[in-house]
Amino acid sequence: MDRSDKPRVVLGVSGGIAAYKACELLRRLTESGHDVRVVPTGSALRFVGEPTWAALSGNPVTTGVWEDVHEVPHVRIGQEADLVVVAPATADTLARAAHGLADDLLTNTLLTARCPVVFAPAMHTEMWEHPATAENVATLRRRGAVVIEPAVGRLTGKDTGKGRLPDPGEIFEVCRRLLARGAAPGRDLAGRHVVVSAGGTREPLDPVRFLGNRSSGRQGYALARTAVARGARVTLVAANTSLPDPAGADVVPVGTAVQLREAVLKAAEDADAVVMAAAVADFRPARYAQGKIKKRDGREPEPVALVRNPDVLAELAELSAARPGQVVVGFAAETDDVLANGRAKLARKGCDLLVVNEVGEDRTFGAEENEAVVLGADGSETPVPHGPKEALADTVWDKVVHMLNAG
Ligand code: CTP
Repeated sequence: MDRSDKPRVVLGVSGGIAAYKACELLRRLTESGHDVRVVPTGSALRFVGEPTWAALSGNPVTTGVWEDVHEVPHVRIGQEADLVVVAPATADTLARAAHGLADDLLTNTLLTARCPVVFAPAMHTEMWEHPATAENVATLRRRGAVVIEPAVGRLTGKDTGKGRLPDPGEIFEVCRRLLARGAAPGRDLAGRHVVVSAGGTREPLDPVRFLGNRSSGRQGYALARTAVARGARVTLVAANTSLPDPAGADVVPVGTAVQLREAVLKAAEDADAVVMAAAVADFRPARYAQGKIKKRDGREPEPVALVRNPDVLAELAELSAARPGQVVVGFAAETDDVLANGRAKLARKGCDLLVVNEVGEDRTFGAEENEAVVLGADGSETPVPHGPKEALADTVWDKVVHMLNAG
């Protein structure tokens, strides 16, 4: 592909220790066919030098507005970009961007860009939580930028807390989603809080064994990722998944159906939409053995008695009756009579939308792709052809946004 045909991405890097992680983001962007122009701040260059950015991007690197003046880079770079991503974004860069300062090439670029803009902040927890930063973030979000919530974990020193740069691969996913959506309404979930459950619950029999299912969590993670890219605040309740945390989502790990119920109901209190993509076990062992269940020679094993788990989706649908405008979405995995069973389940559970897909040994569970029909309580039926789980996720959000805006 000729350079001019490639989507143009500006990678702004500001001066924090996480600048080294932006090298990985840069690699992912260039390897997936993007023309990347790196615009570091002066402080960023104290962490990672200009030759690294130039070599990895294959493009010249400048921080000031006084180089190559005849090419007017302080205007052109922003105007020509299809996406600007600032990673890491320090408290200082967020402040300068929020106030419209134009004292270096990056801030000039931010003022001239008319494409989607993503900030991936990284700083110490105190700086992130300071009202000044919080207000700057709110200002940038109000103006249409996607500001990804920092991750929680180890910070520069010995301390841990909120403020880590999310996994570069996940920042890349946000960028990819924004570029893929192109002219589509980009941030139509801005200002909304959405809750997504993902994965499969495990119901313990004893300290080492459980009853579980084969859900990987991929569909729920795709829903969380796409919602972040569309500007939502996302709570992801993740049951026994082993996928990287989607950048920008608040991840609440859970194990059992009872734990999942507690986490989802709490997060749903102020949510605009709740999507139950998790495979929740309908039953759990009636008795939990404190010690490992041993086989005893010559004796048949004890039968495992089961009791019903709460139906979280049905409970959410009932609660949402008292929450005007809240949209509740369920998933149904069926092996036969897919549509008829789906319709009956939608009515039984009382949710607004039900995503029905056919499952089997080698279908849906753990796969990268999916095929489904989205049923609406209003009688609508939207088939989603076989494709990436993110495409199905976007169809679900399209429907949710439509309902939120109508309601
Ligand atoms: N679900 C739930 N709580 C449960 C079981 C399921 O919230 N205890 C949710 C799932 O997250 C999913 C939807 O309900 O969104 C459909 O789950 P499914 O197990 O397919 O439906 P069931 O009601 O169990 O119907 P059946 O067993 O007859 O297929």
